[in-house]
Amino acid sequence: MRLMRPDPLAFLGAELDSLKQLGLFRQLRILEGEQSHKTTFDHRQVVNLSSNNYLGLTTHPRLRERALDAVRQLGAGSGSVRSIAGTMDIHMELERRLAAFKQTEAVVVFQSGFAANAGTVAAVLTKDDVVISDQLNHASIIDGARLSRATIKVFPHKEIDAARKILTDLPSGQRKLLITDGVFSMDGDLGAVPELCALAEEFGCIMMVDDAHASGVFGRNGRGTIDHFGMHGRVDIQVGTLSKAMGVLGGYVAGSRALIEFLYHRARPFLFSTSHPPAVVAACIAAIDVLEQEPELIDRLWDNTRFFKAGLKALGFDTGLSESPITPVIAGDGALAMKLSDRLFAEGVFAQGIAFPTVARDKARVRTIVTATHTRDELQFALDVFARVGRELGIR
Ligand SMILES: Cc1ncc(COP(=O)(O)O)c(C=O)c1O
Repeated sequence: MRLMRPDPLAFLGAELDSLKQLGLFRQLRILEGEQSHKTTFDHRQVVNLSSNNYLGLTTHPRLRERALDAVRQLGAGSGSVRSIAGTMDIHMELERRLAAFKQTEAVVVFQSGFAANAGTVAAVLTKDDVVISDQLNHASIIDGARLSRATIKVFPHKEIDAARKILTDLPSGQRKLLITDGVFSMDGDLGAVPELCALAEEFGCIMMVDDAHASGVFGRNGRGTIDHFGMHGRVDIQVGTLSKAMGVLGGYVAGSRALIEFLYHRARPFLFSTSHPPAVVAACIAAIDVLEQEPELIDRLWDNTRFFKAGLKALGFDTGLSESPITPVIAGDGALAMKLSDRLFAEGVFAQGIAFPTVARDKARVRTIVTATHTRDELQFALDVFARVGRELGIR
């Protein structure tokens, strides 16, 4: 007979109630159709300023065709983890193409950017090592550092002197990983890549950059911040994502042949999780073709970025220190940011609200991301809505 018992997960309901009371409870928005610049979420047509689909590649004809061909020729799944039977020749082709693109000896592809960061940091470091990390680095870096059991030292966002102080206080023989995002995902500013590379050289650190939001956006043909800053050869571990500007799914690590062989043997998401289906891999290869052959998409992304950012600034919004197509509109209070997002949505503009713990308590915001495929009319429409709703809520 089954014994009746109190629900052991009842505390989760209490947590959710408290989110509701704080105005921070969110229903998932449901996309009805393709991920695109103007589309329908929750039965409402909106200008979509919330995707990471920077270049519009989610629906690019070349990616679609290559994915469909791969399904016809190679099937729907890979059937195994990479290290057992799940390495198809198409997986190796993608890694070779990415290595050539990033100008490194080798590349390993993971199931996601999250897995690439967490799996790599956890594999490379041990409990005897130290990770020195920018305060605003992505959650996947933080989780990887925790999994590694290394000591975690955090420096305030982009404060090089503080990073230097941490390094000065550490024993010179200790293994150290210095790590930054290339583009910070919530603020859109660039990491202090050149300064940190110099510090890494001075103190003998492993240098790692997470270029998730820079892939396809910064550098020649979207090669990322290492290319943008001219830092080739000075970053030991480069992470990129295939899920954002590349329009598909996955993450990768670019570096020396020894690093990649090591990750093939020790990175747990590589060893213990099934590899990408052929359609995903084929579409990623097509995305590299597009970056190489259609750089005008990146030009269009930057034209739209300049137009929209200037428009928001002219309206008097606090847009922080963004240097990329990610532009926050900072409201301060979490509930106010969520209200701003809801009112924008009701008026036909989707800009997701973001609050604590994703950003600091007093820095809640809506985050906007323009893409290469937005039209000027759509961006102007969005600016007009921002002007109206911002005035109504007293945000500008
Ligand atoms: C800075 C940063 N790194 C890594 C990731 C993870 O990438 P992916 O979505 O491919 O898992 C993200 C995505 O949110 C990100 O913003």
